[in-house]
Amino acid sequence: MRWGLLSTAMINHDVAGAARESQEAEVVAVASRELARAEAHAGEVGAERAYGSYDELLADPDLDAIYVSLPNSMHVEWATRALEAGKHVLCEKTFTCRAAEAEAAFDAAERNGRVLTEGFMWRHHPQVAKVLELVAGGAIGEVRALGASFSGAVFGPHDIRLRPELDGGALTDVGCYCVHGLRTLAGEPERVFAAQRVGPTGVDLVLSATMTFANGVVATFDCGLELPERARLEVVGDTGAIVLSNPWLAGEPSVELRRDDGAERIEAETANAYRLELEDLARAARGEKEPLIGRADVVAQARAIEALLASAARGEPVEL
Ligand SMILES: NC(=O)c1ccc[n+]([C@@H]2O[C@H](COP(=O)([O-])OP(=O)(O)OC[C@H]3O[C@@H](n4cnc5c(N)ncnc54)[C@H](OP(=O)(O)O)[C@@H]3O)[C@@H](O)[C@H]2O)c1
Repeated sequence: MRWGLLSTAMINHDVAGAARESQEAEVVAVASRELARAEAHAGEVGAERAYGSYDELLADPDLDAIYVSLPNSMHVEWATRALEAGKHVLCEKTFTCRAAEAEAAFDAAERNGRVLTEGFMWRHHPQVAKVLELVAGGAIGEVRALGASFSGAVFGPHDIRLRPELDGGALTDVGCYCVHGLRTLAGEPERVFAAQRVGPTGVDLVLSATMTFANGVVATFDCGLELPERARLEVVGDTGAIVLSNPWLAGEPSVELRRDDGAERIEAETANAYRLELEDLARAARGEKEPLIGRADVVAQARAIEALLASAARGEPVEL
């Protein structure tokens, strides 16, 4: 796949690095709102072409796929424009906080016969398949409860994460991983109840929530910006628990199986999850498989995020 990067975001460096490791992806072009920035960034990520507008990138007939790494509020618009231009799209998380927008974007993908997927690279790591296999095989008995956390520091006062008009905030930046992780393990939530601490710019700096799933499975998670770095995903059954201490930025696997008689480290392959997400899209684009993160997942994720934000704003539970 010949890729164009839509923006000069920091995260492009990780994705371009992953493309260099892969036989199936090549970063060919970069676009910015300013040509000079695109040119500098193209040099940094090893792309041969730079464009001074996003529209020029989408008009490049030599590109198969677009990586949308814009601020969250701009994802749906530019992912849709890329699909309409005939490109496959990997769009960063949070794809959208509005389920109806996600549905409309996938309608555009289907109309144009192109793949659209959300950049939850953590999900592609082999340790996740291992956890799902353990749970399905009864390693912890019947799943009863789940927990997750993700927090860290933002980089400065102008960071996109602190800007409400760009759909910034802890939930959309890091909490979305917790929500995706809990949904991956427990299915779709039936009820959510969130509480938040809103910072001076108007975004949630801390958000903590419970999510209730079918069969009475209960999950809790918390997320935060301007907090110490923390990451955890835990699934608890009636005979044991599985704990991942590095679930979201997965390079090294971090799975532990805990039972009353002791703890066991579960081996999984070390892998660059960004490379795996690029290769997943390439295989889906060739028609070899469905994308790992497809329409139903992305739309349900948006629905959960929308409900959590509504619950936090209103201070009451929301049924889905
Ligand atoms: N999967 C992951 O591991 C991961 C990690 C970090 C971030 N992300 C996601 O990736 C996306 C980008 O995050 P980031 O921290 O890398 O972003 P960033 O460094 O702040 O870059 C955002 C880019 O968007 C463009 N842009 C267009 N309109 C803008 C506006 N009004 N304000 C600011 N920038 C604007 C800018 O590029 P030009 O001006 O040059 O066009 C800018 O370089 C977000 O959706 C984030 O959630 C994912």
